[in-house]
Amino acid sequence: MFKCLKIIIISFLITVILLFTIASIRTLSLDVNVGLQLARWEKTNNISLVIDHHQREELLAHFKGAIRIPTVSFSEKESNATALREFDRFLRKAFPTVFSSSLVRHELVANYSHLFSVQGSQPDLLPYLLLAHIDVVPASESDGWEAPPFSAKEIDGFIYGRGTIDDKGSLMGILQALEYLLIKGYAPRRGFYVGLGHDEEVSGYKGAMNIVRVLKQRSVQLLFVLDEGLAVLDGVISGLEGPAALIGISEKGSATVKLSVSMRPGHSSMPPSESSIGILAAAVKRLEENPMPRLFGHGPERGTFEHLAHKFGLPMKFIMSNLWLFAPLLGRVLERKPDTNAFVRTTTAVTMFNAGVKVNVIPALAEAYVNLRIHSAQSLQEVLDLIQSAVGDQRVKIELVNGFDPLPVSSADEKSFGFQIIKKTVLDTFPTVTVAPGICIGNTDSRHFKDLTNDIYRFAPIWFKPGDAQRFHGINERISKKNYEELIEFYFSLIQNSDIQKLPEPHSSVHEL
Ligand SMILES: *[C@@H]1O[C@H](CO)[C@@H](O)[C@H](O)[C@H]1NC(C)=O
Ligand SMILES: *[C@@H]1O[C@H](CO)[C@@H](O)[C@H](O)[C@H]1NC(C)=O
Ligand SMILES: *[C@@H]1O[C@H](CO)[C@@H](O)[C@H](O)[C@H]1NC(C)=O
Ligand SMILES: [Zn+2]
Repeated sequence: MFKCLKIIIISFLITVILLFTIASIRTLSLDVNVGLQLARWEKTNNISLVIDHHQREELLAHFKGAIRIPTVSFSEKESNATALREFDRFLRKAFPTVFSSSLVRHELVANYSHLFSVQGSQPDLLPYLLLAHIDVVPASESDGWEAPPFSAKEIDGFIYGRGTIDDKGSLMGILQALEYLLIKGYAPRRGFYVGLGHDEEVSGYKGAMNIVRVLKQRSVQLLFVLDEGLAVLDGVISGLEGPAALIGISEKGSATVKLSVSMRPGHSSMPPSESSIGILAAAVKRLEENPMPRLFGHGPERGTFEHLAHKFGLPMKFIMSNLWLFAPLLGRVLERKPDTNAFVRTTTAVTMFNAGVKVNVIPALAEAYVNLRIHSAQSLQEVLDLIQSAVGDQRVKIELVNGFDPLPVSSADEKSFGFQIIKKTVLDTFPTVTVAPGICIGNTDSRHFKDLTNDIYRFAPIWFKPGDAQRFHGINERISKKNYEELIEFYFSLIQNSDIQKLPEPHSSVHEL
């Protein structure tokens, strides 16, 4: 008996030592995150951007002008058409070279969205597409803004206003960069598109979807798409040394499910033992008590942790470099907070609950809506099946209102053109930043483009510091003047970087370091 125990203890110790040895080796090899940066990149034209005092005033005036037009999407059916038309006139005035260049074809799509096709000198190179959106979510000064939300007021080097980060910073940055490039006589080798949707905040069914339709009619295939999404996180991830640029390579799926119970109505003086409200409430409670399975490590979040591991101190560095061993443990830690739980599983949020019309009437109908964001390793159908079994009551009717599977995962390796071009451009602009793939827990217009390309990236070099995430769709949305200029520089250099024919071969010595 004791001998047996001894053997178990010894073999356990040996296993632990072995695991730690393998784990340490992995920690060391993942320390090197230079990738293609040391390789020899093909030289393309290399126009530098020097912004003088006059240009700085002008580019800021343009940006503020864009913020001041309240291009609000109120709902799928209701937008501010006056503002959208005004925005169209505004763009033509702010970027005259873009609108008059013989290299650029401009067209209006679905009345208010824009598609720019920029001709490349080498038609054999597959084009790419830069995406941004014109519309913004509503904002009201009375919610507690420090400056009126459509004022573009400057406070301490920041421009305040709805749309400064979502998404007029990118939109204006792309067009301003293109304007400057064209003025400097730049003609791209690789053609590209700029798409500006006007209803992204309400799903993009008109704008983005019609841009996709136009491109499909022309049999366009895209090398990659770059849209908004993730950002440069600075001091936001606790324990991480230095800022991190997360490039979104996928988006969680989504589902809205309606649960309902209908019964015969009756008088409250002679109630049945169970009411529609009681049955539904119990079902909703079972859903909350039975969260969707923990899937941490089975989706793109795994790559995020592995890429960032070397920027953490011990023991996190060790744990994150060895998710093959520690993913279940880390998943349990991450699920404790709502913001990190979102990376661990499909989340379940009960968002509406309606029943009853009169104090003395047993209601015939009780309804609840549940909003789920689906983890990359699960499908919409799997989620619906799990809801069915968690509810486990035939009297509760379960209907899918709308939903879609998680988006395909875009490539992020050394052969991935879009990812590497974005990464290089980030590192050229911000040498101290660590670049890693990430996952978007919300959705963007780019999801409509999945038939046109395998590689969709969601990123803009907007600096997010602690507290900034709350500004997004919240109050006091703002961007620093410096950061807006960095956006212009980023797109200015991204467009030129995309002109190479192909990526360099990985630098051979990198893996031996
Ligand atoms: C581009 O030009 C600048 C100076 O004008 C130089 O420092 C930089 O190394 C050049 N980059 C490439 C990729 O040629
Ligand atoms: C719509 O936009 C115009 C400016 O283009 C603005 O004057 C008007 O107040 C906006 N309407 C609403 C309801 O926000
Ligand atoms: C564009 O506007 C016209 C006229 O106002 C309208 O009939 C049409 O449905 C609009 N197109 C789209 C795609 O919204
Ligand atoms: Zn947005």
